[in-house]
Amino acid sequence: MIPQSAIDARRSLYTPEIATITRAERLGEREKVFTIRLDSGRSLGHKPGQFVELSVLGMGEAPISISSSPSRSNGSFELAVREVGNVTGALHRLELGAKVGIRGPFGTSFPIEDMIGRDILFVAGGIGLFPLRSLINEVLDGRGGFGRVIILCGAKSPAERMFTGELEQWKARDDVEFLETVDRPDESWKANAGVITPLVPKISVEAARTYCVVVGPPIMYKFVILEAKRKGFCDDHIIVSLERRMKCGVGKCGHCQINGVYVCQDGPVFRYSDTLYLQEAL
Ligand SMILES: Cc1cc2nc3c(=O)[nH]c(=O)nc-3n(C[C@H](O)[C@H](O)[C@H](O)COP(=O)(O)OP(=O)(O)OC[C@H]3O[C@@H](n4cnc5c(N)ncnc54)[C@H](O)[C@@H]3O)c2cc1C
Ligand code: FES
Repeated sequence: MIPQSAIDARRSLYTPEIATITRAERLGEREKVFTIRLDSGRSLGHKPGQFVELSVLGMGEAPISISSSPSRSNGSFELAVREVGNVTGALHRLELGAKVGIRGPFGTSFPIEDMIGRDILFVAGGIGLFPLRSLINEVLDGRGGFGRVIILCGAKSPAERMFTGELEQWKARDDVEFLETVDRPDESWKANAGVITPLVPKISVEAARTYCVVVGPPIMYKFVILEAKRKGFCDDHIIVSLERRMKCGVGKCGHCQINGVYVCQDGPVFRYSDTLYLQEAL
């Protein structure tokens, strides 16, 4: 006979928990950040870099990174979502107080314990900031435990900068080095212009004591990683988060598989050294 605990564990992998949207704030033309609370009162208990499977009743499920940091959880968590299709579109149309389904948290997290005492270079491109924000705020909330904190942020245009209030706070801190760029500046834009890659050589780092954490669109990884390697970063001090089409999120359906690796379970966060044989991944 299968023990009840095994049945419960399996059911909890596949059965969404009902949760309530308690706040929604527009970030951009197609992006909103949702504050969500599990109706059971259970804390999500995530680590930066992990994701949930979010379901909109009657529509389906989508994997979404947890954008808030555990240090600011307060019994709820935040998902920042760009509207691109069925599930994300239906989510954007929901009212405050609406119910959604949540499975997770799933996947690997950023190796924050290994980063303690080290310098950290964050490179966020576009909505790569959504998962990275969780780690950045976790590190800033434990600021004394880390060395230099350097944040490089890139967006397509000033209007596509996300979490602008937080960007300004990070920029204003004297214990954070912050550089920002946009691909297509307008007349109001006073900072760097162009893609994010040229910001990397502008920063001087001691690569041996620094972690480089890169999250952004697929095209960005290749060039940022090249620059990081030019600066002397070794492959296991470069951390990336990969996005793949996912269904189950728990290593059962094979949708996210690349060369035998399940991105939903073995990732989405990887050391670059562990992705070298995932040839199509980066
Ligand atoms: C681990 C992980 C974390 C993610 N975190 C976030 C996040 O924090 N915020 C966020 O906005 N999005 C995130 N995504 C992407 C998000 O899952 C997709 O945008 C979503 O699944 C689209 O679902 P949909 O039903 O709205 O779109 P669909 O109706 O299924 O598709 C609409 C369009 O989006 C494209 N699309 C569908 N799924 C994906 C996908 N996984 N990646 C890229 N394009 C896709 C389709 O080709 C189609 O063109 C994440 C994806 C993964 C795998
Ligand atoms: S999404 Fe099903 S195995 Fe990864």
